[in-house]
Amino acid sequence: MSELNTRTITKDDPYKLVFVCLGNICRSPTAEGIFIHKVQQAGLEDYFYIDSAGTSAYHIGESANSKSQATANKHGIHLPSKARRFEYADLEEFDLILAMDSENLSNIRQADRKNKFEDKIKMMREFDPRPEDGEVPDPYYGGLDGFDNVFQVLDRSCEALLNELKPLIKD
Ligand code: 4NP
Repeated sequence: MSELNTRTITKDDPYKLVFVCLGNICRSPTAEGIFIHKVQQAGLEDYFYIDSAGTSAYHIGESANSKSQATANKHGIHLPSKARRFEYADLEEFDLILAMDSENLSNIRQADRKNKFEDKIKMMREFDPRPEDGEVPDPYYGGLDGFDNVFQVLDRSCEALLNELKPLIKD
């Protein structure tokens, strides 16, 4: 289980999370959509600002991949993202930066040249009760079963992450 850099979360100072993968069309939009859904179900939307980004420029401006959307929709979840590239300003702006795999982590760390933001950069599966090898596998070149697996991993991880953040909320 991951240790979060704790701070009080209020409506005036919402907690800002950004989920990061390579293309920002499969894994991080799915994590974003699931986390938004869980926050809405808990009635906590005023306390969070939720976004996603990609370390590559391959798919800038695109909606989430059609298989990611179909998988999320099966669970009643909408994926609102338009792909954008992760940038240096995100290191300053967000409270928590969640990498899907170790390549994403190393790319995010490269942007953090002076190691100023290390304590807010985490691997998503640090929050997964069943972390396996710690990576959210890239489903892009595979079949629907890979997208289903990514959904389950992210659903478990988002649930645990939100449960860790809830006690920080003060209203
Ligand atoms: P994502 O998946 O990082 O989960 O959005 C990928 C999307 C596109 C590519 C690779 C991974 N690509 O090589 O274009």
